[in-house]
Amino acid sequence: MHIIHTSFECYPVAKVGGLADVVGALPKYQNRLGHQSHVIMPFYDTKFTRDNSFSIYFQGSYTVNAKEVAYTIKTLENTGLGFEIFFVDIPDLLFRPQVYSYPDDTDRFLAFQYAVLDWLINGQSQSYDLLHCHDHHTALLPFLMTSTEEFKALKTIPTVLTIHNAQYQGHFGFNEIAKFPAITDEAKGLLDWHGSINPLAAGIKCAWSVTTVSPNYMKELKKSANGLEDLLQKESKKCTGILNGIDTDFWDPQNDAMLIKNFSSRNLTAGRGKNKEWLCEHYDLDPERPLFAFIGRLVGEKGADLLPAIVEETLAITPEPVLFILGSGQTEVEQQLLKLKGRYPKRYNTYIGYDEELSHIIYGGADFLLMPSRVEPCGLNQMYALRYGCIPIVRRTGGLQDTVVDIGDNGFGICHDQALVWDVCYSIKRAVSLYEDQEQFKKIQKKIIKIDHSWDRSAEEYINLYQSLK
Ligand code: ADP
Ligand code: GLC
Repeated sequence: MHIIHTSFECYPVAKVGGLADVVGALPKYQNRLGHQSHVIMPFYDTKFTRDNSFSIYFQGSYTVNAKEVAYTIKTLENTGLGFEIFFVDIPDLLFRPQVYSYPDDTDRFLAFQYAVLDWLINGQSQSYDLLHCHDHHTALLPFLMTSTEEFKALKTIPTVLTIHNAQYQGHFGFNEIAKFPAITDEAKGLLDWHGSINPLAAGIKCAWSVTTVSPNYMKELKKSANGLEDLLQKESKKCTGILNGIDTDFWDPQNDAMLIKNFSSRNLTAGRGKNKEWLCEHYDLDPERPLFAFIGRLVGEKGADLLPAIVEETLAITPEPVLFILGSGQTEVEQQLLKLKGRYPKRYNTYIGYDEELSHIIYGGADFLLMPSRVEPCGLNQMYALRYGCIPIVRRTGGLQDTVVDIGDNGFGICHDQALVWDVCYSIKRAVSLYEDQEQFKKIQKKIIKIDHSWDRSAEEYINLYQSLK
C-alpha cells in the first residue's frame, strides 16, 4: 500500500513527546512489511532543518475563501530514516523554532492541512491508498476531504485518525468559521461542538477509522474523554486501540551510541553499572543505593506535581532510595524540584530541561523508572525502560496497564492504582525490598530486557486495519 502519515512531530526532525517517536518509527516498520509509507510534516526552523539540505519537490498554492497562500513541498534525499519524508514550507506560519504554543496555532494547523490536501490533488503523480493523521493538529483532514467542494477529489481515500492524547482537542471559536472554505450547513454541523469548533471531534466523526495508542486507553475514553465519550461510544464500530511499539533499532542497549557503556543480557549488571556510575558521578548521587528516576513532561497528566512530595516523603522516611528527575514543564513544579536540590546530599538531584542523551543513560543506568501518570494514552518511557533493564513503577492507567504486570502477579514491574503520593511511596518501598533481594532483582532485569515491544506486530495491525478499509 501507498500510505501517507500527516503529523506536526517526527523524530529526529522535531520532537515534543512520544508522538514524534511514533511517527518517526511506524512508517519504517510498515515499509519493512513491503509497503510504501511516507510522512508529511511542517518545515520548521530547527537544528535539523539547518543541518540538512532539502530539495524542492513541488511548488503550489491553495485558495481558501479567495485568499491565496503559496507553499513549497520540500524533501530530503537519503534520509536514513527508513521512509520518505516531505515538508510543507510556508515561511510566515510554519518556519518557526518551536512546534506549538504560538497564538496563531489554529491558523498554522489549518494552513498545513490545506497545503497537504492541495499537494495531494495537484502535486502527486501517484495517489495514496490511505491517509493516516495523528492528533488534533491534522484531524480536520478527514472532514475537509469528505465535506468540502475544494477537496472532494480526495473523498475516496480512506482515512485513519490516531488519537495520541484526547486531552488536547484543538478547540477554537465558531466565529473562525470564515477560515474554512465555503461549507454547507450540514458540514457546519460536523464542526459544531457546543458552539465551538473541535477538530478532534470532527476527525472522529469523519475519519473512516479511529484508533488510540493502546487498547485500554480506548476503553477509558469511552467512559471519560473530556466530553468526547458519547461520540466515541456512538462511533464505536470504527474505533479500536492499537498498542504503540518502540523502534528497537534506535532503542538498543547493545548499540546505543548515547550510552556510556553498551550492554546486553549477558553483561547486564556490569554494563548498567557503568551507566549508573556515570549518572551518580555527574549528579553527585550515591551509587551504592537503588536509583529511582523520572523522565518526562512536568505536567499534571504525568503526575509530576506529586514529585516534590514523593521526594520529601521517600527520602525522609526510607533510608535507601536515591532519586533523579529529568524533565521540564510547569514552572511551579520545576521550581519546587530545584528548591529541593542540596537538601538531601547524595540522594536527590534533578536536571530541568530536555536532554535526549541523558534520557538514554538514565534508562540504561537507573534501577527503577517512576511513572505516576494520571493519564497515559500509551507511554513509551516504560517500554524503553524495559528494553534497557530498568524496572518500571507505574500507575495502572491507559497503556501502562497494557504493558506492565506487577511482580505480585508473576510480572516484572510494580503497579499502583491511585495517583497519590502515598501509593507511589508504597511502591518505592516495595521496589527497595526487591532491590535488596539481588538475585530476584537481576532475574527480573534479565526478563524485561527480552520483552519484545518492537513495532513489528503493531505495524502489521495497522496494515490489517488499512486493508479492511479498502
Ligand atoms: P508524552 O508523549 O506524553 O510526553 P511518551 O512516554 O509517549 O509521553 O513519550 C515521551 C518521550 O519523550 C520519550 O521518548 C521520553 O524519553 C522523552 N522525554 C520526555 N521528557 C524528556 C526530557 N526532559 N528529556 C529527554 N527526553 C524526554
Ligand atoms: C501522547 C501520549 C503518550 C503516548 C504518545 C505516543 O503524547 O501522552 O502516552 O505514548 O502520545 O503515542
